[in-house]
Parts: sequence; structure tokens; C-alpha cells
Amino acid sequence: MTAINKVLIDKNTKINPIWIMRQAGRYLPEFRDIRKNNPDFINLCLNSDLAYKITMQPLRRFDLDAAIIFSDILILPYGLGQKVVFKKNFGPKLGELKIDKIAKTNKIDFVKEIYHVYEAIRKVSSDSKLNNKNTIGFVGAPWTLLVYMINQQSPKKELKKDFFKDGSLINSILSVIEKFLKIHIKNQIDNGANIIQIFDSWAGLLEEKDLPKYVYAPTLNLVNYIKSLNVPVICFPREIKNYKDFCDIVKPDAVSIDYNVNPKKILKDVKIPIQGGLDPKILLTDRETLKKEASKYLDIFRDHPYIFNLGHGVLPETDPNMFDYLVKTVKNY
Ligand code: CP3
Repeated sequence: MTAINKVLIDKNTKINPIWIMRQAGRYLPEFRDIRKNNPDFINLCLNSDLAYKITMQPLRRFDLDAAIIFSDILILPYGLGQKVVFKKNFGPKLGELKIDKIAKTNKIDFVKEIYHVYEAIRKVSSDSKLNNKNTIGFVGAPWTLLVYMINQQSPKKELKKDFFKDGSLINSILSVIEKFLKIHIKNQIDNGANIIQIFDSWAGLLEEKDLPKYVYAPTLNLVNYIKSLNVPVICFPREIKNYKDFCDIVKPDAVSIDYNVNPKKILKDVKIPIQGGLDPKILLTDRETLKKEASKYLDIFRDHPYIFNLGHGVLPETDPNMFDYLVKTVKNY
């Protein structure tokens, strides 16, 4: 059994496996080298040889327990025919949302658009470096994808005032998203993904009263689907105010916490395995601080099933040597 599965399934508290969100990315010079020659980010995700190579880059350097496939949550709207581009120093920019067109997308056309992602997963999961390690597939949660598809860019701190104006449009988009997320998840698993992480990066934008409809219900539906395929599922409902309710209702195999969560409080509130938490900015300080802060999480979760990770993605300005030091600190704890 892989180290991560020992935590997720056996609830082992004696080991601390580690992988890092955005572990394949801009802080690595070998990623920037490839990126320089591939200005179109979506095309890069859909080049299965390069996506495989990029996914493996951090595993060649560091003693990590999982690969997370190099792709993006916005590959789903792309597969549905909504334009997606990544502008430098701005982030994603999506094209106009044509619900009639999207609602008519059929499964075959969707898979045709993005099957290179599945090819990349197949290559990663059959690499000998992944023997007895996990290949993590992922999706954006329905709510977060809805936000990007309607807002057409990152919402930053708040939603537009009229975001919920057209309720029936929102319901139609959500049902299309849920249908194609299941197809996307199933194909990732069929090609070798053996954990699925659901990123709900904008869960924190919702008021408490809207969580059941937009976060709990659609995520529970996906979690149950993934469980029915016998694959563990980790949820990251970033900046949600109440992780306890989320876990009680959605019941993923583990919950990934953001860096604003008080680790001692979550330890009391949540019985399922926990992942993550450390502020990515700590990697920009010095070794002593990094060791102290990482050890804080390891100490607090000493008797709780815990997978080491950050509270959000690793920052582009991170020194790979600090990343290496973090992995070694966790492994030698
Ligand atoms: O974690 C990994 O290493 C796997 C790959 C991965 C990427 N994006 C690659 C990527 C994963 C899991 C994601 C998820 C993702 N994408 C999320 C959820 C997690 C989160 O960050 O909250 C979201 C919201 C997106 C959408 C997205 N993709 C944004 C907002 C951006 C721009 C970020 C920025 O800082 O400009 C991206 C681009 C992106 N996705 C990059 C990478 C490596 C950087 C691309 C580049 O080289 O310019």
C-alpha cells in the first residue's frame, strides 16, 4: 500500500507522507525552460509528452509520495468549448459563456478535446518512479468552475453584485458541469489516477446560507461518485468558514486545509484524515523558520492521520532548495 493510502485508508498516524500543491510549476527552472517555448498554457497541458515530463520534474528532484498531474481545473470549460487563455501577470481569461452550445456538448466531443490529459496520466502512472506512490488526478469543484465560467476571470476577493441574478442559467451550468466532471474523473481513473483531489478554491466567497446548494450538495454528489469507483477523494474547500460542517456533510477521505485554519481547532473538530496547512510564504523565509513552522504542524497532528502539504500552491518565487529542505524536514521528522 502507498504511504498516502496508509493514511487515507488505514488511518495510520505514524507516517507523514508529503506532496505539494503546484509542485510542478514556475519555481522550478526546468519548468520555466519548457514554459518559455510554450506560451500557450492550455496547449502545454494538452501536450502529453511535455505534461508527463513536467509532472515528473519534482519527483526527479525530491522524495515526494505522489505526482499530481500537470493540467488545470479550467481544462473542463475548455473541453466544453469555452475559450480559456492564461495571460501573463493576470491569470486565466475565459471567453464568452454560451450555455446553449455548452449544453449540447456530447461526451465524445468533450473527450476528443482533452484526451491528451488522459494520455499524460497514463504515462505518469506507468513510470517506474510511481511504483508504490500515488498518481493524483484532480478537478475543480462545481462551484469554483461556475465562478470562473460566469466571471470569465479570477474573482479575487468578491463576486460581482449580480452574480446570482439568473438562477436558471446557474442551475443549467451546474448540471452540465456535474455531468462532465464525472466523465473527466472516470477517464482520469481509468488511465491510472488513484486519488482524486477536488479543488474548491472559491468556496470562501460564499455566505454560510449558500453553502448547502453550491458547495455541500454538488461536492457530496462527486465524492459519492468517486467513492463508488473505489478511489480515495481529498477535498480542498479553501477558506470555507466551517470545515467541520463541510466534513460532516461531504465526508471525503481527507480534507486539505488552507493556511488560515487554526490546526489545533481543526484537530478537535474533524475526525477524518487531514492534509496541508503550512503557509506557502514560509518557504520564502529561512531554514530555521521553515523547520519550526513545518514541525508545528507535524507536532499538532502527531496522533492524527496527516498528509503533509501547504495551505495553497507553492509560490513561483520559492527557492527549490527550500522546497528540498522542507521535504527532508518532513521525511526526517
Ligand atoms: O498542483 C500541481 O502541480 C498540478 C497542476 C495544477 C495547476 N493548476 C497547474 C498550473 C493544479 C492542480 C491547478 C489547479 C488550479 N488551477 C486551481 C485550484 C487550486 C488553486 O490554485 O486554488 C485554480 C484556481 C486554477 C486556475 C488557475 N490556473 C489560475 C488562477 C492560474 C494562474 C495563477 C497565477 O499565479 O498566475 C493558473 C495557471 C497555472 N496552473 C499554472 C500552473 C503550473 C501557472 C502557469 C504558468 O506557467 O504561467
